[in-house]
Amino acid sequence: MDRTFLMIKPDGVQRGLVGEIIARFEQKGLKMVAGKFETLPEDRVMEHYAEHTEKPFFAGLKAYITSGPCFLMVWEGKDIVSITRQMIGATNPAEAAPGTIRGDYAMEIGMNVIHGSDSDETAAREIGIHFAPEEITSYTRIDEAFLY
Ligand code: PPS
Repeated sequence: MDRTFLMIKPDGVQRGLVGEIIARFEQKGLKMVAGKFETLPEDRVMEHYAEHTEKPFFAGLKAYITSGPCFLMVWEGKDIVSITRQMIGATNPAEAAPGTIRGDYAMEIGMNVIHGSDSDETAAREIGIHFAPEEITSYTRIDEAFLY
């Protein structure tokens, strides 16, 4: 089954949005197979956002993402990267459609609530950065016969 890495950022955690966000993905039919709170250490932030470290916004992004605990997750489902990116919405919440997570819960790009991998390759890389294989579980949703 396809996998992705999702991370509720410190603003989402501190605003009490973890349950609401998990519920959206669960209700869609996706399956969470790993989850943990963690305040990201600097070296992991540098690795995760490696392609952005020279960008002008990176200092602000690093300060924001390390300002408190994130909720890190691995999810499974068919075509999950594309589905979760659609559900999350545009990077800039001002451009995110209503009904998406950023469209419904965020105002500014500097505090956009959640991160989701943007390709299958990125998902594999990000899962490997944040989770050990033994942290990822496996189970069958009782409604899987109705989902696929
Ligand atoms: S780029 O330059 O187009 O490649 O960047 P983009 O894909 O839009 O964003 C890359 C990640 O940086 C975050 N971002 C920001 N964070 C804080 N402040 C500002 N101004 C800002 N601009 C972009 C953006 O949310 C992306 O992180 P993730 O975790 O993937 O959402």
